[in-house]
Amino acid sequence: MTNNNPIGIFDSGIGGTSIWSEIHALLPHEKTIYLADSKNAPYGQRTKDEIVALSKKNVEFLLENNCKLIVVACNTATTNAITELRRDYDVPFIGIEPAIKPAANNSQTQVIGILATQGTLNSELFNKTAEMFQRTTIIEQVGHGLVQLIEDGNLYSPEMTQLLESYLQPMIEANIDYLVLGCSHYPYLIPQIKKILPEHIKIIDSGEAVARQTQNILRDKVGFTDAQHNDPVFYVNSNPAVLSSILDNKYPVIEKEF
Ligand code: DGL
Repeated sequence: MTNNNPIGIFDSGIGGTSIWSEIHALLPHEKTIYLADSKNAPYGQRTKDEIVALSKKNVEFLLENNCKLIVVACNTATTNAITELRRDYDVPFIGIEPAIKPAANNSQTQVIGILATQGTLNSELFNKTAEMFQRTTIIEQVGHGLVQLIEDGNLYSPEMTQLLESYLQPMIEANIDYLVLGCSHYPYLIPQIKKILPEHIKIIDSGEAVARQTQNILRDKVGFTDAQHNDPVFYVNSNPAVLSSILDNKYPVIEKEF
């Protein structure tokens, strides 16, 4: 079975490119369309209804572009909207959720930290997953302000360092040995986070797992492309320079209303 239609990937903004990179590295021949809804970022403080409506708008754009599979490269959109998306659209979806399981299963101290948006931490889906790990103390921290700074291109600002220190210090004091990055924007903060955390604390995110799952769904249900080469397409609805720069200016970025 082959299928030459593109894989669609969306996020509230530029952060989901961290997931796109993993997918593109594992499946370089697949055509990908990435949608950054930067105009409406951050999703993290929005209501569930707003997140569902924005996610549907993004899905419809990707379906108009004949996507064969949609990756919701946003924890906030996944945890608040994936049930509605799966109910309302006839295309396979892959979502991204904070990687609590590998952190809890491997933690020696049985104390783990999770940094995510308010929307993710308040969602029913996240809380159901967290409840499965009763033995583990999960220190939840909302990353207030982090997504906005990343969307504004202020990745390495003093304000970023200050916010990260204030969020991570209490986790260090509580003896975490794993930090789960529960937002697809946060992998871009790993260099700054590493400067703050002691070396023994491991940082995990879900990017690689999502890429592997994408490969599995293509193999089992949707079909791989038979193309030899495909240039990725990036759409954004505001601030194209920041998306370009997070991609090291390697790919053209199309600014478009959606
Ligand atoms: N990148 C997103 C996530 O994974 C959303 C961040 C936001 O828009 O608040 O949660």
